[in-house]
Amino acid sequence: MNLNIIRYETVGSTNTEAAKQAKLGADEGLCIIADQQTAGKGRHGRTWVSEKDSGLYFSIVLRPKLELRFLPLVTLTAGVAVHDALKEFGVKPDIKWVNDILVGDKKISGILAETVETSTGLAVIVGIGVNLRSRNFPDDIADIATSIEAETGKRISSGELAEVLTRYLSYFYDILSNGRGPVEILRHWQQRSSYFSGKPVRVTLDGIIIDGITDGLEENGALRVRTVGGSVKIVQAGDVERLRPNYE
Ligand code: BTN
Repeated sequence: MNLNIIRYETVGSTNTEAAKQAKLGADEGLCIIADQQTAGKGRHGRTWVSEKDSGLYFSIVLRPKLELRFLPLVTLTAGVAVHDALKEFGVKPDIKWVNDILVGDKKISGILAETVETSTGLAVIVGIGVNLRSRNFPDDIADIATSIEAETGKRISSGELAEVLTRYLSYFYDILSNGRGPVEILRHWQQRSSYFSGKPVRVTLDGIIIDGITDGLEENGALRVRTVGGSVKIVQAGDVERLRPNYE
């Protein structure tokens, strides 16, 4: 994949900007990076706090040539890439389904994948936010979020992180795009996530709650959750929260 990186001081959302460019015909590999976002978007309509120079705010335009049913694996691929990029800086990350990167139980990075129809076909915008520093965390996330600086004492610039991240993204996206890609990506994800199986979790989606133990992933990346009654629920979307180990 050829990368073309455009940097901004301030944008509303790098995802929105990348989607705009994709609609205008941008090729796969266009990356938008901003020092600051004024309307950073999280999953499920939430806000992503995006203070100046406190995080990496990054989006890439992808045009995957995958069977549609495998499209959700683009998100998992990005999770694997972020995981390995953070490891290079001395962080010990975990991946919580579907795409939260955690250190212990604290979130260090989030991924928001959005699809857009363009005149040359469907594009996927993968937006990645990584916390570089914790000092500007608002009170409501201070206890549940962490940063590269808090974990390692290192002050990494967004440029340094973007360089390593784009290397891993290209590497794993190439894997996803080859014949056995989906199987390979699931294997990489499994190796990096403590949530793959045997983890007591609560899944919440649109007010519906499922409690159970994780039981692997489906071929499209959906999470299997074995409930107390023994049935297996296939979770395509939702928020996953770890339940304490004494849950039964
Ligand atoms: C999440 O809720 O965990 C996903 C957060 C994704 C945040 C990133 S920051 C760069 C890109 N632009 C956005 O507006 N959101 C994503």
